[in-house]
Amino acid sequence: MHIRVPMDSAAKALGADDVVRALESAARAAGVEIAVTRTGSRGMVWLEPLVEVEIDGVRHGYGPALPGDAAAILDGSSSKALGPVEELDWMKRQTRLTFARCGVIDPLSLAEYEAHGGLVGLRRAAAMSGQEIVEEVKASGLRGRGGAGFPTGIKWQTVHDAEGPQKYIVCNADEGDSGTFADRMIMEGDPFSLIEGMAIAGLGVGATRGYVYLRSEYPDAIAVMRRAVELARAGGVLGADVLGSGQAFDMEIREGAGAYVCGEETSLLNSLEGKRGVVRAKPPLPALEGFLGRPTVVNNVISLATVPVILEKGAQHYADFGLGRSRGTVTLQIAGNVARGGLFETAFGLSLGEAVNEIGGGTASGRPVKAVQVGGPLGAYMPVEKFDTPLGYEEFDAAGGLIGHAGLVVFDDSADMLAMARFAMEFCAVESCGKCTPCRIGSIRGVETLDRIAAGDPSALPLLEDLCETMKDGSLCALGGFTPYPVMSAVRHFADDFATSKEAAQ
Ligand code: NAI
Ligand code: SF4
Repeated sequence: MHIRVPMDSAAKALGADDVVRALESAARAAGVEIAVTRTGSRGMVWLEPLVEVEIDGVRHGYGPALPGDAAAILDGSSSKALGPVEELDWMKRQTRLTFARCGVIDPLSLAEYEAHGGLVGLRRAAAMSGQEIVEEVKASGLRGRGGAGFPTGIKWQTVHDAEGPQKYIVCNADEGDSGTFADRMIMEGDPFSLIEGMAIAGLGVGATRGYVYLRSEYPDAIAVMRRAVELARAGGVLGADVLGSGQAFDMEIREGAGAYVCGEETSLLNSLEGKRGVVRAKPPLPALEGFLGRPTVVNNVISLATVPVILEKGAQHYADFGLGRSRGTVTLQIAGNVARGGLFETAFGLSLGEAVNEIGGGTASGRPVKAVQVGGPLGAYMPVEKFDTPLGYEEFDAAGGLIGHAGLVVFDDSADMLAMARFAMEFCAVESCGKCTPCRIGSIRGVETLDRIAAGDPSALPLLEDLCETMKDGSLCALGGFTPYPVMSAVRHFADDFATSKEAAQ
């Protein structure tokens, strides 16, 4: 009997290791022979630990599994039976391009990776010129999935065209946004897709060396990625002669040290160079003067892990999905006070309301949804009135929000939006690198101003608006520059929470 249980850290946090031990001992007691393979997660976190039992080539799910369910799972009588996993509504409604293999294969089996379409893209790229690879990525319409949505192919073109004795590919795996976990999930569940994407990027722009800057808070992802790099090297995917192409590309995993601002690309580069993680002024762009002053592609994990499928299936296949200038798929991470949290990959164009209510199933508390923070701690709070906004970079911008890294954190009607606005300013004050005044000092004044509003001082509100304008226009990077999004969206859309404090004080 072949059984699969995720080794993803969310599944492990919910007891996956105990479930595996229970399955093994129940099998021994029943005299049943089982083979357990640890996989990545399918992304249905509310069903984790999700046990999959293969019967006649079809995987049947049981979840959320407890150790006590083991014997009944083995004899097929468990009340946790969900039926064939691929037939579950959550799975059937998705367009899985980047996450096609995640939860399906053994993450550290290069053979399984290849059996599921892996390395097709890199083999194709190895027979193309660098410029042809860059053209393919441009034609796919892929935009940076870290948050800014800058066209990946144009970034690669800049590095391709730059002169330099050495070029680098740096992967930003410092996934610091609250409520986001797509980078972690793919690194734990399908690490070779990131390695393959980085190798393709290297061949495309002429870089022979790559680094993954991976946050220390992800010890499992670090271990999986390190092992996957070793296996890729042993398998000829990395090294002096990538898949026999005569071209070199090798890479290593570097551990971050826990600062949110090191997710900002220039601060990340400083940290990677062994310096303090302080933001650098742009220009020069990292594409021209990046790691050690050399031309460098800095891309997010999901951007790079999406490149193999673009090269495998062709740019047009990818570009055929999406909405407007947002092509391909978005990997939604649904979290917070939500009934069904997890990772849902879908073509751009789904509305925010569909994502929260239909996919996420509304709040876990059963109370009405009040707000959804989209795009991490620097993202705007979207009220229910904006639920018809389609997921697309330009569409969200027009609605006063940003998609960012596509994390959705749901709040019910018990949330106090003044407290959330204060939290945003406090977060900025704690995480500020201190390089520029609007952020370093503005965030502290912001906390004080919000405290005055909470105490019922009506003169503080225009002051807050003024401060937010200054931070937005005058900050050197997105941390100070985007903190006004959550603050001002809370003021605009949830004015009652600000007025109530005033009335209470009066
Ligand atoms: P940005 O708009 O300054 O730059 C976007 C990217 O395009 C950068 O890599 C930049 O170097 C590159 N670029 C710009 N012009 C270029 C050109 N002509 N040629 C080549 N490359 C060029 O945005 P930034 O500051 O890098 O990122 C801000 C975003 O980060 C925000 O939208 C926010 O959502 C997101 N973010 C993501 C977090 C996460 O955990 N994933 C955390 C915090 C913020
Ligand atoms: Fe540093 Fe904040 Fe200025 Fe960014 S906005 S450079 S984090 S002080």
